[in-house]
Amino acid sequence: MQTRITELFGIKYPIIQGGMHYVGFAELAAAVSNAGGLGIITGLTQKTPADLANEIARCKDMTDKPFGVNLTFLPTFEEPPYDGYIEAIIAGGVKIVETAGRNPEPYLPVLKDAGVKVIHKCTSVRHSLKAEKIGCDAVSVDGFECGGHPGEDDIPNMILLPRAAQELSIPFVASGGIGNAKQLVAAIALGADGINMGTRFIATQEAPVHQNVKDAILAATELDTRLIMRPLRNTERVLTNPAVEKVIDIEREKGSDIKIDDIYDLVAGIFPKVMLDGDMAAGAWSCGMVAGLINDVPTCQDLLDGMMGEAQDIIRGKLSAALLD
Ligand SMILES: Cc1cc2nc3c(=O)[nH]c(=O)nc-3n(C[C@H](O)[C@H](O)[C@H](O)COP(=O)(O)O)c2cc1C
Repeated sequence: MQTRITELFGIKYPIIQGGMHYVGFAELAAAVSNAGGLGIITGLTQKTPADLANEIARCKDMTDKPFGVNLTFLPTFEEPPYDGYIEAIIAGGVKIVETAGRNPEPYLPVLKDAGVKVIHKCTSVRHSLKAEKIGCDAVSVDGFECGGHPGEDDIPNMILLPRAAQELSIPFVASGGIGNAKQLVAAIALGADGINMGTRFIATQEAPVHQNVKDAILAATELDTRLIMRPLRNTERVLTNPAVEKVIDIEREKGSDIKIDDIYDLVAGIFPKVMLDGDMAAGAWSCGMVAGLINDVPTCQDLLDGMMGEAQDIIRGKLSAALLD
């Protein structure tokens, strides 16, 4: 399958692995890229720019295919040294950056001068248009279903993707809620040039996370995610657990008077405890509704080959057959 996304990034399959805190290490990024997709290292999981430089070097040892780095500009409790991370990306020869959160405009000139392609993650048509206007090469359109931060508009992909297709000129990938071939075909039909997956890639052999995390995703249904931090306008979709239900109780109790300090221990610094230690009760961690569709833990190669093979069967079989009378 050739699309504007495979051409832009020089990849075989139009499938991207979105940046994921404490999941997007070199092992996963390399496995996805080796399987024909685009793997992405999560920049901020690396504590310093020197650590990121090391992670990029490790990834290069594991793949000679293109891979990217995610730079997330979300409200964090301490401002990370973004200039240093960008220096590490450029010096490491990485040619693709996935930006997310705040407007990446201040960082575009230095990235562009170094020949880096930028795909910005957006949860609305207006933000996607802004990304196009400031010179991003592509956007990743994240619908309401997505794991992580779906924004505050709550528009599901069945509406958001065709709306994006109506407005955008640059290529875009569909992101959020996707985990199988049927959804890949649907995303292309809705106007996207490819897909981005997060949660689905956590339940793969190569994802370097604790087995408890993979087991939790396998056990979850589509009913098991919750939205937290909406009153703080930093909405996050997470897998429910007692800590998450406590956050929701506190949010209900405090209403619009809530401060981050009221829930800090339940939402901050949780990812390493969950992903590395397998402490599933440590607090809130991002997970998409697509968990309800995930029933196996394949290798990235089997996942991507399987999805692409089945996507072709759907297009050549069911969809073509529907044209015949
Ligand atoms: C555990 C987890 C951690 C994530 N961390 C980040 C992150 O640090 N930066 C970012 O831009 N997106 C992050 N995301 C969002 C993903 O890159 C992707 O956009 C999202 O998972 C897509 O939705 P899906 O999970 O339904 O496939 C995270 C998602 C998950 C599930």
